[in-house]
Amino acid sequence: MEGKRILVTGAAGFIGSNLVDSLLSQGAIVTGLDNMFNGRMENLEMAQRNKNFTFTKGDVRDYDHLLYLMKDIDIVYHEAAFTSVPQSILMPKLCNDVNISGTLNILNAARLRDVEKIVFASSSAVYGDTPTLPKHEKMRLDPISPYGVAKQAAEAYLVSYNRVYGLNTTALRYFNVFGPRQKDSTYSGVIAIFISRVFEGKNPIIFGDGKQSRDFTYVKDVVRANVLTGLSKNTAGKVLNIAAGKPIDLNTLTQTIIDESGRKGLSIEHGPVRKGDIVHSFGDISLAKELLNYSAEYDAISGFQEYLKFYKDKYGF
Ligand SMILES: NC(=O)c1ccc[n+]([C@@H]2O[C@H](COP(=O)([O-])OP(=O)(O)OC[C@H]3O[C@@H](n4cnc5c(N)ncnc54)[C@H](O)[C@@H]3O)[C@@H](O)[C@H]2O)c1
Repeated sequence: MEGKRILVTGAAGFIGSNLVDSLLSQGAIVTGLDNMFNGRMENLEMAQRNKNFTFTKGDVRDYDHLLYLMKDIDIVYHEAAFTSVPQSILMPKLCNDVNISGTLNILNAARLRDVEKIVFASSSAVYGDTPTLPKHEKMRLDPISPYGVAKQAAEAYLVSYNRVYGLNTTALRYFNVFGPRQKDSTYSGVIAIFISRVFEGKNPIIFGDGKQSRDFTYVKDVVRANVLTGLSKNTAGKVLNIAAGKPIDLNTLTQTIIDESGRKGLSIEHGPVRKGDIVHSFGDISLAKELLNYSAEYDAISGFQEYLKFYKDKYGF
């Protein structure tokens, strides 16, 4: 990554900011773009102390701005998105504009500017709730939410732009990412919500019976997969699962969060099942292993333990 000129969209967000820090630590020259819809400047505090980092407030729906930013860029990591599944059900048009049209803008600008590599943050939401487990890249996609549909369309554009224009594109399908800087709002990942509830002395509430499972992937593994993809020579036009490859049910995970946080007297509560939620999610990561030599260094529990340390340091518990 030394000396590579990189654009990270969604740079002030959870995954984007972790990626920015990793790229800078490897000697890259990074431009971060974010419209601050869901980003936080505090996520970029470390990056902004680095002379190789520039932040620009802007929107992926603004094609001219993208064209300007991509002058002299080697790699684009496209992390910016309308990221909430429940909100995509409330605002499908906005989700479509940002996640499909915004991605098309990225591809068109990258093509005009001869960008070497475009890596796109897709999602396991494209698989929907089909019974086949683990989910592998060749299976039929069946997204439930507008968010999942938009990610499927954006992925298809990446593959198409490789086929018809020879653009070096790769989509990474992330499975339930968690870790430092993830927001604990109603619309974020369950681990971030539960850790914050538990430290406020409140019971975590699982929507449904808690038997649903997820392949929680620690953000450091996702960042590493992105770096490997950015430097790879064999991933043009490919779509790869990026997961831990080890699912855990929500009851077990939530009990671990309660136990490890050391808060006494808390217990799991259950609420109604949410529309658009998937019951089981588990990723087959053999293609990423074959093409990138990727395997996860963390599972849900070891990732949570590291996240807990970060959380306690940050909030002084
Ligand atoms: N967190 C997960 O579990 C997960 C799982 C699968 C895929 N993903 C994908 O990974 C990427 C990063 O997600 P995240 O969890 O860091 O979410 P996030 O919401 O923290 O980050 C997304 C960032 O994009 C920015 N953004 C939104 N609309 C924009 C626009 N129009 N122009 C410019 N910036 C815009 C937001 O302000 C935010 O900072 C997204 O594409 C998301 O869909 C995340």
